[in-house]
Amino acid sequence: MASEIARAVEVLRAGGLVGLPTETVYGLGADASNDLAVRRIFAVKGRPSSHPLIVHVANVERARDWALGGLPEAGERLARAFWPGPLTLIVKRSARASDAVTGGQDTVGLRVPAHPLALELLEAFSGGVAAPSANRFGKVSPTTAAHVKSELGDDVDLILDGGPSRVGVESTIIDVTGDPARLLRPGGVSREAIESVLGKPLVIATHATDVRAPGMLESHYAPRAGLWLVSAEEVFAEAERRREAGARVVVIAPAEMPLPEGVTRLTVPSDDAGFARVLYAHLREADALGDLILAVPPPESGLGLAVRDRLQRAAARRP
Ligand code: TXA
Ligand code: MG
Repeated sequence: MASEIARAVEVLRAGGLVGLPTETVYGLGADASNDLAVRRIFAVKGRPSSHPLIVHVANVERARDWALGGLPEAGERLARAFWPGPLTLIVKRSARASDAVTGGQDTVGLRVPAHPLALELLEAFSGGVAAPSANRFGKVSPTTAAHVKSELGDDVDLILDGGPSRVGVESTIIDVTGDPARLLRPGGVSREAIESVLGKPLVIATHATDVRAPGMLESHYAPRAGLWLVSAEEVFAEAERRREAGARVVVIAPAEMPLPEGVTRLTVPSDDAGFARVLYAHLREADALGDLILAVPPPESGLGLAVRDRLQRAAARRP
């Protein structure tokens, strides 16, 4: 793997794109200091250039270089508690962060990912790596190297295979430019864990206001098949009704939930972290197995908040 890392560093230095494993989802990485390389990310994803990218770095010292005057106190505390890990901090940007990366905003998103290969790459590269999730804009995020390959094909110069992502949903995004801190996107670190470190409640951003976060668009993370969210009480009757109407029905639900004959079940573990881990792979598989997906969202606690958020966006009406 050492030589793979060396090749990936060369690709980054040459302005190329690397598919890189992280503990949340796979990223599409480029040298964050190379505007041409960063623009290629937007072109490959089909993402509007006004939507900013997260800069990934090897450790908190490097993160401080990208922030104006270092990290604010709440940022330092959260970094100490959760980095390396599934947390992105939004801070005032230093001169190092270009308009290409930040979409012209005066803030930048920073994260130290926990995957050993990502850390090795960031350590060897030594600069910042701008990386969105390695999917086309609006589509389901990849949690394996094979997903990246099938989604982006030859548009990515090299894919590092680090196995299936351990967390399965994207990082939690916290804006620490003001007080109190704001939750912009629920993710791999629970709201409860963050509030316990900060010792006070987060403000929950419900829609894009002064920040541009595509994760906040209504329709996102969407499979091709139609997706409907149903409660545990409704799922049996709803699955039966849809099947009788002629649909090839796939249900994303725990093993113990009774389902009618003739529908396909994709089983989710009954704990929130387990659900998060399999969520995106199941949405992809459901696309291959049927034309109508029913999902039973988990309770809101822990990673359940992020899973519910992604399911709601995947189910939202497409533009
Ligand atoms: O777990 C993750 O965060 C993954 C892995 C690859 O690290 N990355 C990821 O990137 O989910 P992406 O681009 O798919 O989502 C990043 C989100 C977007 O909604 C973006 O708008 C928001 O972060 N974001 C980035 N910089 C921002 C900023 N300065 N202010 C507000 N939102 C920002
Ligand atoms: Mg994404």
